[in-house]
Amino acid sequence: MAPATLDEQLAAIVARIGDIPQADARQLDDLKTGLLGRKAGALTAVLRALPTLPPDERRVVGQRANQIKQQVEAALGAREAELAAGARGAGDDLTMPGRSRWRGAVHPVSRTVDEICEIFRELGFARVVGPEAETEAYNFTKLNIPLDHPAADMHDTFYLAPGVVLRTHTSPVQARVMEGYPPPIRVVVPGLCYRRDPWDPSHAPVFEQIEGLVVDEGVSFVDFKAGIDAFVRRFFSAGTPVRFRPSFFPFTEPSAEVDVRCQICRGSGCSTCKQTGWMEIMGAGMVHPAVFEACGVDPERYTGYAFGMGPGRIAMVRHGIPDIRMLYQNDVRFLAQFVE
Ligand code: DAH
Repeated sequence: MAPATLDEQLAAIVARIGDIPQADARQLDDLKTGLLGRKAGALTAVLRALPTLPPDERRVVGQRANQIKQQVEAALGAREAELAAGARGAGDDLTMPGRSRWRGAVHPVSRTVDEICEIFRELGFARVVGPEAETEAYNFTKLNIPLDHPAADMHDTFYLAPGVVLRTHTSPVQARVMEGYPPPIRVVVPGLCYRRDPWDPSHAPVFEQIEGLVVDEGVSFVDFKAGIDAFVRRFFSAGTPVRFRPSFFPFTEPSAEVDVRCQICRGSGCSTCKQTGWMEIMGAGMVHPAVFEACGVDPERYTGYAFGMGPGRIAMVRHGIPDIRMLYQNDVRFLAQFVE
């Protein structure tokens, strides 16, 4: 039998194109090597033989061969895509465990805030909020902090406009409550505060505070200590030792810083309490008469106490979180540890 002419070989190839759409994966592989394979591919053989043809025949056959090559490639490509799509469906392992769903959770700091406010609710305090953008008057002057007082720049304030700041503490809400409601007042005020502190392990430019304010007739220093004590016994534990250290805040007189027994070492000294055995939990004191006057409360008739604490720091001690930045990066791998 005479060897097939190139035309005949091309015709045989075209016939095999018809097999491609029905081929399974193995057959497709065979077809691909059989037609386009570098060593034994039928089409490759035709293309290789072209130079043996006389020039005008070479052109005609060459053109045809190239067209056919394109058809073959297109058909192979289409079938490959089909098989790949089908394999995805047919290959599913129905026994594979389902994808678990993300379950949201309350942020550890928000949880601490809620718990603290809940304890104060039981003690008769309402929970209120105030604006984060404040005027200098509320953030400083009504609280007996003159603008040229070191406490004003100690706070390293973010200014939004002349006279308008991002509050540096929740204390301005004390003034707003006293202006807005007559005594008796018992409120806690959770909220975000802002200071121009760069991020480091113990500083954040934005952080939570909870302010507290009690105003009534006859509120004494004993009521103040008893109020704080009642909170500490509930939030920490019944026997937790508390101490009041004299301190200074422009808006309270006398002022104190309140410490509780270090919850990590129970007083024996550790790195969290810097070997003191105590943890500071709040600044506090009896409301300064100048603050009452600035807020329209009669200092002859009323007395009161106030406090401010940092639930972020309390949450860190509670959960042994070493770096405050972890609280604000919102890395779900970190946050997922607090899901109950
Ligand atoms: N505002 C103070 C601060 O940010 C905290 C504070 C101290 C609040 C004493 C008070 C207080 O209400 O009585 O550092």
